[in-house]
Amino acid sequence: MSNLTVREEIDRLRETWGKRLLILGHHYQDSDVVACCDAVGDSLELSRLAAASDAERIIFCGVRFMAETADILIRDAEGKSCGRSVWQPAPEAGCPMADMADGKTLEAAWQNLTHRVDDRPLTPIVYVNSNAEVKATCGKHGGSACTSGNGLRVVKHFLDLGHRILFAPDQHLCTNIMRELGYPTTAVATWHRDLPDGGLTTEEIRAARLIAWDGCCPIHASYTIGDVAAARAAYPGAELLIHPEAPAAVAALADQTGSTKGIIDTIARAEPDQTFIVGTEEHLVRRLARRKEPKIVSLRPIICEDMGLTTPEQILHVLQTWDESCRVKVQDDLVLDARASVERMLAL
Ligand code: 13P
Ligand code: SF4
Repeated sequence: MSNLTVREEIDRLRETWGKRLLILGHHYQDSDVVACCDAVGDSLELSRLAAASDAERIIFCGVRFMAETADILIRDAEGKSCGRSVWQPAPEAGCPMADMADGKTLEAAWQNLTHRVDDRPLTPIVYVNSNAEVKATCGKHGGSACTSGNGLRVVKHFLDLGHRILFAPDQHLCTNIMRELGYPTTAVATWHRDLPDGGLTTEEIRAARLIAWDGCCPIHASYTIGDVAAARAAYPGAELLIHPEAPAAVAALADQTGSTKGIIDTIARAEPDQTFIVGTEEHLVRRLARRKEPKIVSLRPIICEDMGLTTPEQILHVLQTWDESCRVKVQDDLVLDARASVERMLAL
């Protein structure tokens, strides 16, 4: 089937579903996939759209944690599906960073830390880029989810209450947030999953305001100071925008760190003669660079392979077969705790 025929067949089938169907795509999807979507956004925007819509079936073109978040938010007050469902055209598309934390080890870390140092409450904050089990563990202990866009607000809220934070799974996002909030590097201690007691002494825990899980996004964490030097030399006068999943030493060199949406919004507001060096996933950078102005160049092209797994053919496959292996259904006993962490974030 040619691309056009796949698109035509997708359009024909979606017409038969009307408003009962919603196809969502993340900004990091390939442009062929984006063209098949009813809406494109960052992970939080898409989950909100899923929650706000009445669609019976949602096809989520992105990675697993995003489809799971949509499923958590479309459930009713008791956590039941009520005939609504979420489908992922590429069910094998996961997020390597989300997989760096699981519910059991997060629970064990929280228990270990609270038993060793109890001078302040320890609140878990989990990046939405985490699996449902991790969100449920966070929700169970009164914690909140956060995104790269609202992480600063969420972290600040709990620090202002005097709490200590256990942040998972992205060590770089929370380190960048603490730097932006003006905390010294000593206020962050890293919990090493593979070491006894996380490799932390009681004194180190006591001195820290935030304990960072040792996970990272292998894509954004691969940016180096050398990449910044090379791009600045090639494009003098350009502004550097970089995603806060980049290491702190690299992010500190940027003119602005910004979530996916933050980067898009900054470019949308820019003067036509500006040039931006953008440090985030390449599918998005390429799409931004298509416009004539402002000029957009990549800090270094990096592709998230998981984000690139979805194809229009797979969307069509879901529409034609509703293949159960593409259904994303969060375990029922995790839904309410996981949702509590997401709703706490939305309320802040
Ligand atoms: P957003 O929350 O900005 O959509 O980020 C998703 C992601 O995968 C970043 O690497
Ligand atoms: Fe996960 Fe990084 Fe890919 Fe985002 S870009 S889905 S955080 S691996």
